[in-house]
Amino acid sequence: MNRLTADELRETYLKFFESKGHKIISGASVIPENDPTVLFTTAGMHPLVPYLMGEMPHPGGTRLTDVQKCVRTGDIDAVGDSAHLTFFEMLGNWSLNDYFKKEAISWSFEFLTSKLGFSPDQLSVTVFAGEGKEGEDGYIPADEEAASIWRGLGIPDERIYRLPREDNWWGPAGTTGPCGPDTEMFIDTGKPKCCDACRPGCHCGKFIEIWNDVFMQYMKTADGKFVPLGRHNVDTGMGVERTVCMLSGAPTVYDTEIFAPIMAAIDALREQGAGNGEQAMDEESVLRARRIVADHMRTATFILCDPKGGVKPGNVGANYVLRRLIRRAVRYGRQLGIPPGFTPKLAETISNKYAHVYPELAANLSQCKADLEAEENRFNQTLDKGEAMFNKVAEQLKLHGQTQISGKTAFKLYDTFGFPFEMTLEMADKAGLTVDKEGFDEANRKHQELSRTTSAGSFKAGLQDNSEVVTRMHTATHLLHAALHKVLGPSANQKGSNITAERLRFDFTWPEKMTDEQIREVEALVNKWIADGIDVVKKTTTVEEAKKEGAMALFGSKYGEEVTLYTIGDVSKEICCGPHVSNTRELGGFKIQKEQSSSAGVRRIKAVISNM
Ligand code: ALA
Repeated sequence: MNRLTADELRETYLKFFESKGHKIISGASVIPENDPTVLFTTAGMHPLVPYLMGEMPHPGGTRLTDVQKCVRTGDIDAVGDSAHLTFFEMLGNWSLNDYFKKEAISWSFEFLTSKLGFSPDQLSVTVFAGEGKEGEDGYIPADEEAASIWRGLGIPDERIYRLPREDNWWGPAGTTGPCGPDTEMFIDTGKPKCCDACRPGCHCGKFIEIWNDVFMQYMKTADGKFVPLGRHNVDTGMGVERTVCMLSGAPTVYDTEIFAPIMAAIDALREQGAGNGEQAMDEESVLRARRIVADHMRTATFILCDPKGGVKPGNVGANYVLRRLIRRAVRYGRQLGIPPGFTPKLAETISNKYAHVYPELAANLSQCKADLEAEENRFNQTLDKGEAMFNKVAEQLKLHGQTQISGKTAFKLYDTFGFPFEMTLEMADKAGLTVDKEGFDEANRKHQELSRTTSAGSFKAGLQDNSEVVTRMHTATHLLHAALHKVLGPSANQKGSNITAERLRFDFTWPEKMTDEQIREVEALVNKWIADGIDVVKKTTTVEEAKKEGAMALFGSKYGEEVTLYTIGDVSKEICCGPHVSNTRELGGFKIQKEQSSSAGVRRIKAVISNM
């Protein structure tokens, strides 16, 4: 493998596609220009949608290549592990109704082997398995064309995996727009298979996805149908950070040259703050906190320096996402013992690393630093006040010989003083106190009900990006499934599910139209479970163990296979890949909009959840 740096990788990629007749174009702003469906640019295709749709010709022609800054915050809570990032650069090459599968796949193969130096033996690929029946509505054939191109390049059939829509179909989450089957390329790390069912897409770390070629032949319509677009586009995506990581043999993206100066700066700041009240942390927590600070600061710096500008820390939409990133970084920085005022310093380090590629990181740095400083100060004041209040509370409790902080008090700290609940938990732990978590949830729930009735939930509207809505809908789907079992009985089983940012759709076996009463009952049950604020617990287990525990949705899983089991109190237990919210409270409210027939013996429910 060729140990390329990020700079070398960008250049090698763009030059390679230039040699194949592509025009190198600049990546777009990370803040979308004219796309209300996303808060941030999440993939290289967003800025190119009108051209992919054929609404107008692109001035650069029909073959384009670029590097796109992307922000994806749907998995923000997973940041800190070895792979998740909220900001990344995506390399892409595009055919706007020009070349198609043969060229796209052959060039991908050529680039991976001749420019990056992977051996063809390390490659495994996936192609779309197709769905539906020929002649029936919604039929889409398996992508045998892609499979045969891969075979022609020497990839044997046992390393060509045919996977369903969940794995091998790409389209912007939850929106209408161009989309299509894809073929994904994975590098086999050579680790042993985790189980018999281990294949590309498995999360055990054996196969790492390196590139995705999407064949955009379809258009997703507002009613969830896929109609031929009448054009054959290619949209590809290769992540810079992940690829540099693989080429360098580094154990995680955070151990690559990309993050090296940022990590070094974090460690130097920690040195400065040594003995400054740094909390006793185990090694793993330190590792995680450093990664969170590095990731969130990188994302925040790119957002604040973006040439389009206009996104500042705030309470709604993209502004809220930015605030959350900065505040999380501050919180974890504090945990690491880093002295206050550190966020502008890290922005400077990040600017030094990237300004030669993204000049806006130099041009807009001073404003970015000022914004960071102001937000860090605001949050530090909040935390200081909260800590002082907490200490008073703890003192009082001790005076009275008590050891538990009531839910009401914890909620007051959170609601009145803006003190994060996790910090109450952490400080309580250190002070040898417990916290009434259920009481906190209860107080929070009551408060939310109140604010919903007074302001119809509108002040928080638009708080989340699409992926967060989809995650909430996904948990709502599990609750709906459980409620159908309770109201109709265990034969009301899931047949299919589809989620967009606007609604969830759930198909289940049931012979007749549901009565109005049944619909109301199901809706009320789901809303009760939401109001109950039940924790959603995730664990990895085996199919047999899950079965013993009484889990639903066992179909399709193989004996011995490792699976993820999501448990929502005693309401629901389903094997599923997630993601889900951590507490049902986050769903706000649930409403069934439609109950209709889907096919013989199968009913379909369409439902929505409240804005948060
Ligand atoms: N748009 C495709 C992706 O993001 C290439 O994976």
